[in-house]
Amino acid sequence: MTTAAERSDLPSATTDLHGTVTVHGHAAAVDVAQDPQTFSNAVSRHLQVPNGLDGAEHQRYRSLIERYFTPEAMAEFEPVCRATAQRIAAELPLGESVDAVEALGMRFAVEAQSAWLGWPPGLADTLVAWVRENQAATRSGDPTRTKTVAQDFDRIIHGLIQPRRDSDGTADVTDQLIHDDAAGHLSDEQIVSILRNWTGGDLASIAQCTGVILHHLARNPRISQRITQGASDAEVDAILEEFLRIDDPFVFNRRVATRKTEIAGCPVEAGQRVVINWADANRDARVFADPDAFDPHGNAEANLVYGIGPHVCPGRPLARLELRELTRAVLAAGTPEPAGESVREEPPMGGFRTVPVILR
Ligand code: HEM
Repeated sequence: MTTAAERSDLPSATTDLHGTVTVHGHAAAVDVAQDPQTFSNAVSRHLQVPNGLDGAEHQRYRSLIERYFTPEAMAEFEPVCRATAQRIAAELPLGESVDAVEALGMRFAVEAQSAWLGWPPGLADTLVAWVRENQAATRSGDPTRTKTVAQDFDRIIHGLIQPRRDSDGTADVTDQLIHDDAAGHLSDEQIVSILRNWTGGDLASIAQCTGVILHHLARNPRISQRITQGASDAEVDAILEEFLRIDDPFVFNRRVATRKTEIAGCPVEAGQRVVINWADANRDARVFADPDAFDPHGNAEANLVYGIGPHVCPGRPLARLELRELTRAVLAAGTPEPAGESVREEPPMGGFRTVPVILR
């Protein structure tokens, strides 16, 4: 990982040989994310609801989606989420090395998401295989492979939509979404895109976040103790989000410039690709004097793990709930210790590929 000293020298924005401008600085990342007129989300030829939309159209679908992450919706899911986390944590073998990303994070992510969306438990293996192939395609940078993975997912989702078309729209969250007309009739293509976003946002990110959290908890037993000895939900959320700031696994999002402008002195032409690097921004030494220093409350306001601006993560309440329940369940099952070196993911991905831990 780049050290704090190296990060303080990082310019706020750089242009690579392909002409893509990458935003590394915290202030510049906030400016770009909060200026959707100049930095559009229409970066892909494919339909992406809501993240590929701008302006009023984005707002329309965004309002529909936010209704699935209200405090009431989360309170309804909480007992199921807790039971899922407790069951998976209780099944972890004590005194044996396990990989926090795959054995814990991925398994929990798939089971919790299936429970939330009402998907059959039998789909879990297919979903895990899909997430793995999706990650491999991202690593490879091969657009044909990425397209094939997207088509595979569409097939999985179509299989879930069809039987629900004739239902009354109350059976589960997927059923509600299929019959949701708050933004007008949703086509199959729009439903698939929304569910692909939720699945992509949830599965891989929750598994990656779990790896980062267990990596840090295993090396900081005092923080684990703080959580088990009466920390409030808000305090646990702040602790986990500070781990995720230090080692942000959700590295970047794309934009395209709509006009000639500049980002922190770096010239940008209309049509030029722009990448917001949240992981760099979250370690900008101009904002976090020592980016590795653990200060959950002091750093909370500037933390960009869930983004900022009109596209700020709508799934944050669900992500928080899942990560908090899983952390509490694991710490109730045992005390995590490192069982070897964690292996970092390679760019463009973040976080860790494997995090070996032993529960004692
Ligand atoms: C687990 C940790 C998660 C992290 C770190 C994370 C991070 C982010 C970030 C940084 C953005 C901003 C994107 C941008 O500005 O272009 C975002 C957007 C988004 N996230 Fe998450 N996310 C997480 C979990 C989730 C979950 C659980 C869901 C849904 C089930 C979700 C759904 C979305 C969607 C739909 C958007 C696009 C919003 C829009 O364009 O208006 N995310 N997320």
